[in-house]
Amino acid sequence: MKSESSASSKHESLPELKLELSKGRAEDTKADVLVVFATKKVEHKKSGKADKKAAASAKAVVEGLRTEITHDVMRLIGGSDEGAASSFSGGSGETLFFRQQGLGAARHLLVVGLGETKSFEIETLRQAAAHIMGQLKAQKCKAAAVNLDTVPHTAIPGDAWMQALVEGLHLSAYQFAEFKAADKSTAVENIHLVSTTRHKSLEKGLQAGEVIAEAVNFARFLGDMPGNRMTPTLLGEHAQKVAKGTKLKVSVWDKAKIKQEKMGSFLSVSLGSSQEPKFIVMEYKGAATSKKPIVFVGKGLTFDSGGISIKPSAGMEEMKYDMCGGAAVIATLAAIAKLKLKINAVGLVPATENMPGPSANKPGDIVIARNGKSIEVNNTDAEGRLILNDALCYACELDPAVILDAATLTGAMAVALGNLHTGYFTRHDKLATKIATAAGATGEWVWRMPLTDFHAKDMKGTYADLSNISSGKGAGSATAAAFLEQFVEKDIPWAHFDIAGTAWHTGDRWPYNPRKGASGVMVRTFVQFAMNE
Ligand code: BES
Ligand code: ZN
Ligand code: ZN
Repeated sequence: MKSESSASSKHESLPELKLELSKGRAEDTKADVLVVFATKKVEHKKSGKADKKAAASAKAVVEGLRTEITHDVMRLIGGSDEGAASSFSGGSGETLFFRQQGLGAARHLLVVGLGETKSFEIETLRQAAAHIMGQLKAQKCKAAAVNLDTVPHTAIPGDAWMQALVEGLHLSAYQFAEFKAADKSTAVENIHLVSTTRHKSLEKGLQAGEVIAEAVNFARFLGDMPGNRMTPTLLGEHAQKVAKGTKLKVSVWDKAKIKQEKMGSFLSVSLGSSQEPKFIVMEYKGAATSKKPIVFVGKGLTFDSGGISIKPSAGMEEMKYDMCGGAAVIATLAAIAKLKLKINAVGLVPATENMPGPSANKPGDIVIARNGKSIEVNNTDAEGRLILNDALCYACELDPAVILDAATLTGAMAVALGNLHTGYFTRHDKLATKIATAAGATGEWVWRMPLTDFHAKDMKGTYADLSNISSGKGAGSATAAAFLEQFVEKDIPWAHFDIAGTAWHTGDRWPYNPRKGASGVMVRTFVQFAMNE
């Protein structure tokens, strides 16, 4: 085992999935499997006849290979009338694997359904990529050649669908293999993406997809690491490491500096732990200094025991994920820098443990935040807002164009929206529209939640300006957001994303996310938001 005190490289590295875009016919590419896409046939209501055109792309490829088994394959793909009765209809999520077909230069053939052409969207390919990877892993195939000419021709530009395909492949290849041997037998090593046309835009999509998926997988890795191996200090080291070779400037403030900067609320949360808190600042300058930055803020709670208001032990191990907001911010800044976006951006991550040590916050304690507001700590488990508030004060001082924060803030969020949607809170309608647009392009589901003066009123303190828990009943996520709002200057567009329900265990929803483990949620939306600016 490696030492606990460094952000060193992997325990046993998994062969990395290599993607290569080439010009030509996929059928001529040497690989274990040839992958072709098929769309769903549509029954014509009047004639009752199936639309043969819909399956045409896959059919044309297979027919073109002209072997004696082609007939069987065709029947199953549905290229003939008989096929209409076969179990494969080209629906999204359907796959057909033909072993040892000796078609073209590949040994096996994989047909992947995309659903009806008219409902084809970017997410269709991101998910199809997951089904490709699922089949390659199950059949223990190391190399595949994907025929991109079989992607339906629609109004969606080549770079956009290519990016989604590439994201889906890399996201599905992720395995957390730091502390036990990776399953190398199912690791896919090479995928050739082969097309006869549109090379410039496909290349663009490939590059963006690789950077973004790498960032998401990095955020997942940070989240999946256990609390003893992803302390605030180590999180800071990882932020510094990922910035190497980019234009990112990273500084990691220590406890003395945090104190000196009057982040009394953040500091108070760290006092119950023997791990030093860190404040991670990542700056990216891709535009003129006069251009206001987008500031991202992420909760970096590397382990949340609840503190003196300690959590029940069942499920407490999941609180290693309480830094997933911070991980998303670090990964977002890394991606922005690698994509060389022409914007200015800053990432801020207050990082600490929440532990019940002898100097820990006690219920009733009063702490003072950076903007001078006093806060009663009536529940030490509502600590996320006590570290984000100081970071938000600092964010406002950077004269930002917009502030976006991500945090595993409230269990109530997971109750309200489950693991499907990330709830977001903003009073700024224009910002809400921008968020919906960015998220819509990435396949991440977000849902706007209410934030009103009533919620803010519920957060007033008895002995101090504010209480860290609500005096009212219910709406725990909205009152938490209202608490954060007290630290954001009124004229600055700000949105808060509560990822408590979506930061881990989302593989039952999105086939390219791990069944168990961190999802890397919000990285794609945040990067897309930055791209749209
Ligand atoms: N990190 C938790 C929120 C959380 C809980 C995230 C479950 C994901 C799954 C947060 O620090 C917390 O404990 N919040 C409390 C707030 C309450 C005391 C007002 C909660 O949600 O119970
Ligand atoms: Zn907590
Ligand atoms: Zn927490």
